[in-house]
Amino acid sequence: MKFFIDTANLDEIQEAYDLGVLDGVTTNPSLMAKEGITGKDNILKHYKDICNIVDDNVSAEVISTEYEAMLKEGKELAKIDDKIVVKIPMIKDGVKAIKALTDEGVRTNCTLIFSAGQAILAAKAGASYISPFIGRLDDIGFDGLTLIEQIVQIFDNYEFETEVLAASVRHNMHLIQCAEIGADVVTCPLSVITGLLKHPLTDSGLEKFLADYKKGNK
Ligand code: E4P
Repeated sequence: MKFFIDTANLDEIQEAYDLGVLDGVTTNPSLMAKEGITGKDNILKHYKDICNIVDDNVSAEVISTEYEAMLKEGKELAKIDDKIVVKIPMIKDGVKAIKALTDEGVRTNCTLIFSAGQAILAAKAGASYISPFIGRLDDIGFDGLTLIEQIVQIFDNYEFETEVLAASVRHNMHLIQCAEIGADVVTCPLSVITGLLKHPLTDSGLEKFLADYKKGNK
């Protein structure tokens, strides 16, 4: 299972990378805006900065919504670094752009997936990753994890090479259940990754081990 961090914050990306468990980064226009990254040149530079931290898999999202423009923007993003995966929204022109970029050897991540049908379309177009948003489905009363289960099953049935990238992950149980289901990748905030470290019995156990060591080694 791959771990991606869902942020455009360089310090958080560095912290997750330093932990030694990070396989990639997902960003989106909202996350870039949150870091105050605006203007084309700054945005492209920021993607390069992210690529300089991690080993691979940096999702950079297009802003265009029309086929030709998406293609042009996708190629421009891909040129930043070999680590870039072009993130394309699940719309009709997006599906066409995924197919064209895939044919040119550019990796893509189809974002804003909320149904199995959308996931199948993106996989058929050749997307490297599809990103179903678990938390946003939960927010409107649907079970996001059921969607992950359905997509994993469908992709297994047909041996699609497209990887299921569970997104909009809000807490540890989302991540653990995605692992149980067999999602290929989970992208989540740093707090979810570091949250996996915590268990009260680990803390109390370590405290006792150290106290006992001190008693015997005065
Ligand atoms: C995925 O690539 C998206 O950036 C992200 O997971 C969306 O998460 P949110 O619903 O918490 O904004």
